[in-house]
Amino acid sequence: MVWVVANSNVALVKYWGKADEGAKHPAAPSLSVTLDSLSTAASVELSDDSKEDRIEGLPAPAGEKVQGFLNQFRSRFGIRARARVRLASNFPVAAGLASSASTFAALAKALVVEASLDLGDGDVADLARMGSGSACRSVYGGFVEWRPDGAGSAVEPVADKDHWRLRILVAVTSERPKAVGSSAGMRRTAETSPYYSSWIESGAVDLVEVRAGIRARSLSRVGPAAERNCMRMHAAAIAAVPSLLYWEPATIAVMRRVWELRERGIEAYFSIDAGPQVKVFCEGESAKTVEAALAATPGVLRVLSAEPGDAPRLVAHPPAWAADAQAPQRPSRAAAS
Ligand code: DP6
Repeated sequence: MVWVVANSNVALVKYWGKADEGAKHPAAPSLSVTLDSLSTAASVELSDDSKEDRIEGLPAPAGEKVQGFLNQFRSRFGIRARARVRLASNFPVAAGLASSASTFAALAKALVVEASLDLGDGDVADLARMGSGSACRSVYGGFVEWRPDGAGSAVEPVADKDHWRLRILVAVTSERPKAVGSSAGMRRTAETSPYYSSWIESGAVDLVEVRAGIRARSLSRVGPAAERNCMRMHAAAIAAVPSLLYWEPATIAVMRRVWELRERGIEAYFSIDAGPQVKVFCEGESAKTVEAALAATPGVLRVLSAEPGDAPRLVAHPPAWAADAQAPQRPSRAAAS
């Protein structure tokens, strides 16, 4: 049996549309930062004696996704053994906090090690992508790009985690499961939003700016491009039929709070995924002020704090928060404020 801990990631340039639905290849490039403190631990035990898989630690719909992933894994590598999978995350799982990225990155790595497959990171990323597209970026630490490549896609680290101590604050505004998941949301946007093609085109420009900004460790370059990229993704989603509106009143309150901070000369920028939480990028001394301002915004339940983090790692023992994967979720060690 092996245990792997993998980290979640936040996209500075978003993946929101597929070129290939089945194989989950993206329609446009995306670029994310792997987070150090929002993690999922996965353990896998393969056995030829069991007749069925056992998946513990996840609510039913997510469990079905994991079941589909295990079936794909077996057919891809000609493996017959059944798996006992245990999963635990140190942050709320179903509320737009990218738990599928850390879950499938951890699971892919754990399956590969448990089955003694001799695969490189690119192949592990390829496998993780089958669970959730964004999971392929969590197979690497630091800043990671995922782009269309021929008929498929490729994942490549842009800079390692020590290159730039960007702070990522997550303002949690709701812990309810989201109404429309990412896969269905991006499909609906592609099929019905009149702005989908402009969204895909503009992403390529944002990517060039964000990548250059990361290399230069420049928040003044990365922040504006990441924030407008988020707004354009949501503009395309809002224009879908029926409309996809992932924001709650508190989401908008946090967006306005970030704009106020900038007016006061404090550099902070936001990004929002397919859920109501707001991820805020800042750095250095101003992080304390930003964190306090977010925590004091009406409707914010708590603020999680992260920095660029590592690739998935094998651990001898589960972390304390995952010691009993079937126990109720424990509070995140990243929880603050
Ligand atoms: C808004 O990776 O969850 O977080 O590939 O369909 O499983 P599927 O989608 P998923 O989508 C993530 C969308 C996003 C943006 C991003 O992480 O790039």
